[in-house]
Amino acid sequence: MSQENELPPTPQVSSATDSEDAWVSVIQKMDEAYADLVHYQVEVEEKNAELEENKVFFDSIQRSMSDVLIVCDQNGVIMRVNSALEVLVGKTEGQLVGENFTQLIEQRYLQKVNGFLKQIRVQPIRDCELELKGFEGSVPLSMNCSPRKNHRGRLVGMVLIGRPLGELQKAYKELNEAHAELKLAQERLVQSEKMASLGRLVAGVAHELNNPISFVYGNMHALQRYTDRLSQYFDAINEGQSREELKRMREQLRLEKLIKDLNSLVDGTMEGADRVKEIVNDLRQFSSTQESAKTHFDLSHVIRTALHWIIKESKRPIEVTEDIPEELQAFGHSGQIHQVVVNLIQNAVDAMEDSPVQKLSLKAWSDQGQAFFSVIDSGPGIPEENLSRLFDPFFTTKPVGQGTGLGLSISYGIVSEHGGKLEIRNLSSGGAAALLVLTNEEDEHA
Ligand SMILES: Nc1ncnc2c1ncn2[C@@H]1O[C@H](COP(=O)(O)OP(=O)(O)OP(=O)(O)O)[C@@H](O)[C@H]1O
Ligand SMILES: [Mg+2]
Repeated sequence: MSQENELPPTPQVSSATDSEDAWVSVIQKMDEAYADLVHYQVEVEEKNAELEENKVFFDSIQRSMSDVLIVCDQNGVIMRVNSALEVLVGKTEGQLVGENFTQLIEQRYLQKVNGFLKQIRVQPIRDCELELKGFEGSVPLSMNCSPRKNHRGRLVGMVLIGRPLGELQKAYKELNEAHAELKLAQERLVQSEKMASLGRLVAGVAHELNNPISFVYGNMHALQRYTDRLSQYFDAINEGQSREELKRMREQLRLEKLIKDLNSLVDGTMEGADRVKEIVNDLRQFSSTQESAKTHFDLSHVIRTALHWIIKESKRPIEVTEDIPEELQAFGHSGQIHQVVVNLIQNAVDAMEDSPVQKLSLKAWSDQGQAFFSVIDSGPGIPEENLSRLFDPFFTTKPVGQGTGLGLSISYGIVSEHGGKLEIRNLSSGGAAALLVLTNEEDEHA
């Protein structure tokens, strides 16, 4: 029993050792866990620093963007905006987050933007023009809208990027206005040039009208005298005068001659009236402001009329050679072409003012669907340095008040608009030659 009692308490000793081991291993594990924790902590801190750096980087990009940026969820609720948008609408990101982006859009564009979420499922929206409710009024934008997806590719919202169009649109509008003004000014110039040319012709026209009018006037005077004589004779018949008396009166009043004369008087008067009508028609053709549609017209007639008036008005002994067909068809606005022809002939006549020999040669012909007209003068020609400036508006070598310098520039515009050609060059024999080419068929320029 005692022996039994003396037995060493082995189990107790061994259990103490085990528990110590267990503690050691626990402490070891704790150490390891702690070391891991420290490691993770360092990693997290590094990641944090990296994130912070990225945030600063992206924030700086956002701040430097002049385009506005709106990030929304799938309901159009604003999640982020950039500073360009904040400045534009005069609200901070804090005030905007949580609002629906449509609240920033002007009423009349709402229908457009309401469809954005649906549309971007199919394809991104590009360059959609709309207006934002800006701090200082509406701001036109060109908007792009793209879907925003999560890592599984599901649509979670959208990103709107808008470029303010303000400056661009303003510049465009100003450009448009300037263009309209220029066009108006050009029309006025064309009109005033036409008026100036018309003015130059007026003296000639007045003289020309004087002829048939004085002719008609003279005839009417004669008719008036004849009427007196005829009334005398008819009165005598009514009074029942004898045949002998009537015969005597016929001889005295020279009624036989009067009756013979009557026809030629009436014919002459008619001719004079016709001439007046022709002159008025010519003038109307030249001065018409509203051009109707382009038509076929007789270029020869236009040339002859223009030449007639200019030569009449110039009152100089100009030797004119004409090689113009009876009729020459061209297509366009006859009134405008008349203006071109007048200017070419007038320029040639003006150029010869101081020339000892004044020869003007006009030629017109047709070839392969085109009508040609050339004016050659015996003037001094055009100095080499002026050749390239002839068609410039306001280029003139004439004294102030005698030339606007618009004739050729307007003529060039008219001819180009007709799909034709206008050239001026010097001749080796001296003098200058102008060539006008027009189509005589209706073509794509018509
Ligand atoms: N046949 C010509 N010979 C010499 N110079 C010419 C001839 N035709 C034109 N020019 C020159 O070209 C210039 C410009 O002609 P343009 O018809 O455009 O204006 P302008 O005749 O001076 O003025 P406007 O036509 O308004 O009366 C003339 O001033 C002249 O110097
Ligand atoms: Mg001229």
